[in-house]
Amino acid sequence: MHNILQMSSTSRSAFEALAARLAPALAARCAPRDVDLFLIRLESYFEDLYLPLVQLYGEYADFQHQFNALFEQMLDAYATRPEPLRLLDLERQFMPDWFQRPNLVGYVCYTELFAGTLAGVRDHVSYLRELGITYLHLMPILKPRPGASDGGYAVMDYRAVNPALGNMADLQALATELHASGISLCVDLVLNHTAKEHEWAQRAMAGDPEYLDYYYTFPDRALPDAYERTLPEVFPDFAPGNFSWYPEFAKSGRWVWTTFYDFQWDLNYTNPSVFRAMVDIMFFLANQGIDVLRLDAVPFIWKRLGTNCQNQPEVYLLIEAFRAVMRVVAPAVIFKAEAIVPPDFLLPYLGIKTTVGKQCELAYNNQLMVLLWSTLASRQVKLLTEVLHQMPTMLLGSTWITYVRNHDDIGWAVTDEDAAAVGENGFLHRQFLNQFYSGEFPGSFAKGALFQYNPVTHDTRISGTTASLAGLEAALAQQDDHEIDLAVRRILLLHSVIMTYGGVPLIYMGDELGLFNDRSYLSDSVKAEDNRWMHRPPMDWTKAKSRHDPNSIVGRIYNGFIRLITARKSARMLHCFGLIQPLWTDNSHVFALSRSNPMGHLLLLANFHEREQSIKADLLHFGGLRGNIKNILTEESLPAITDKYIHLEPYESLWLVGEQ
Ligand code: GLC
Repeated sequence: MHNILQMSSTSRSAFEALAARLAPALAARCAPRDVDLFLIRLESYFEDLYLPLVQLYGEYADFQHQFNALFEQMLDAYATRPEPLRLLDLERQFMPDWFQRPNLVGYVCYTELFAGTLAGVRDHVSYLRELGITYLHLMPILKPRPGASDGGYAVMDYRAVNPALGNMADLQALATELHASGISLCVDLVLNHTAKEHEWAQRAMAGDPEYLDYYYTFPDRALPDAYERTLPEVFPDFAPGNFSWYPEFAKSGRWVWTTFYDFQWDLNYTNPSVFRAMVDIMFFLANQGIDVLRLDAVPFIWKRLGTNCQNQPEVYLLIEAFRAVMRVVAPAVIFKAEAIVPPDFLLPYLGIKTTVGKQCELAYNNQLMVLLWSTLASRQVKLLTEVLHQMPTMLLGSTWITYVRNHDDIGWAVTDEDAAAVGENGFLHRQFLNQFYSGEFPGSFAKGALFQYNPVTHDTRISGTTASLAGLEAALAQQDDHEIDLAVRRILLLHSVIMTYGGVPLIYMGDELGLFNDRSYLSDSVKAEDNRWMHRPPMDWTKAKSRHDPNSIVGRIYNGFIRLITARKSARMLHCFGLIQPLWTDNSHVFALSRSNPMGHLLLLANFHEREQSIKADLLHFGGLRGNIKNILTEESLPAITDKYIHLEPYESLWLVGEQ
């Protein structure tokens, strides 16, 4: 193996020196075959680690010391990695596309809302299996600060589970059980900030110079004011500004950088000790059996004066370095970027236009989600088709997380340019969407609420569950069977697109049962000001009981999900390694998406209108379909072609495949 990989001579001598230095400790702690494996991986990923670190921290006086210390950490984590996880490492190295296969179907939930505790989740693994889930994202489970914690995104101890949910042994047991059921486990790693109660923050607050350097703090407003000139606000309503004054800080008081809530202190990644501390936490979680780390708010981890302090080039270098250490120590683990940013900045998180195969394996496709809701409101597919045309038609070594709803608000990421390209005014369209989904627009079927109205820019976002936004709540209140039917179809339509688009579809807990907005948060003082809680209802296990009743509303939704998931798993052309091409149709209400790879072609047709629609059957040829054509959602041959037209029922979607 040695010397086969191309490296610069500087890198190679750094690698050789390191390997020689590590050899005795490696030999003392690992079996000979494991020593070889470590060195092979280290050599493979050495430059991915070394070069970013030199760029980020090379100027530091103690760079060499930090660098050596990092390898001690790596060796330690590697030597203590449990045997079953080492096997998983090998398995996934042999199967590097494991997260790109169509059998991956995700589910995301808050542990406490789904099943009370981690042990409770174990009791419900059978429910997940029945639904066909193979990837489970548990919302923040690490120990949060007491009281308000931004839904757990203010962590005070990364090595402890939230005591209300269980302990580390429960987490390990759950991971083991999930693995035995073919389900991978994803957890949040809040790496942009810690809770102000975290030990590092406490030490900084007490004036310890070592920890003072873990955060961004300022004695006066000079720098904060300079930064604020170009910084946006994430929560203008309840956490305005990006800095918070702590009078007790180091006795004389300091301003602390707090992008989100005042109790979430941004970490200072210009300090290599912070990088190493986070690496240690990653190793710790990996060795508990976590498969996917969701890098929370990752665009914010590097600051630069005069910018919006998001997506700075150093963010991508940090990810590259984080990924390289994980590849050496725990290659079964992958990263998911939570980067809700415009496509030009988002794509580099997947390695596009930066370093292919060296960034995150997964990233949320926020635009697809936003466009689905936009299309549902307007009934016009032109914006969806136009914008998807600009997305990459193929990804290598990475893929999307596609989703309809999640725990956050929906921000209308429709740019003025994109809107103009289809003859719309971006500002007016966003206003329309806000009015539509808050239910104010005449004739709207949605029951949502505005989130974080900014009076200066008039920007605002939307809260609400899938079912409530898709019209089921209103239809049921009116006891209108026709509207109920349409709402059920809308829910399934949106999920049909995310199941075919390409990537890992992620179902938000309760959407498979059509759960409504939950207004109980209003009577909880810790949650009342944050209406994102309305779309975080507890799991309704009573409702779930009727999921097998085909005549119940719940049963119709649930069965629809089962049909989508089953069809997806059988469709090998949905493997991410393939083309994703939206096609223009001759009907402004019908969206078409062609998916193809060497294993075949699939054409998705999706009617975004409440009336029947038809499109010219010519499209089948553009989608690469020949011979007998069948809809794999129903396993029926396409009967609906008459006079060279394909007919679609209200909100119907077809997954068409031809003879192979
Ligand atoms: C992410 C989470 C969001 C949280 C924020 C701060 O964006 O999805 O819920 O408020 O990070 O941690």
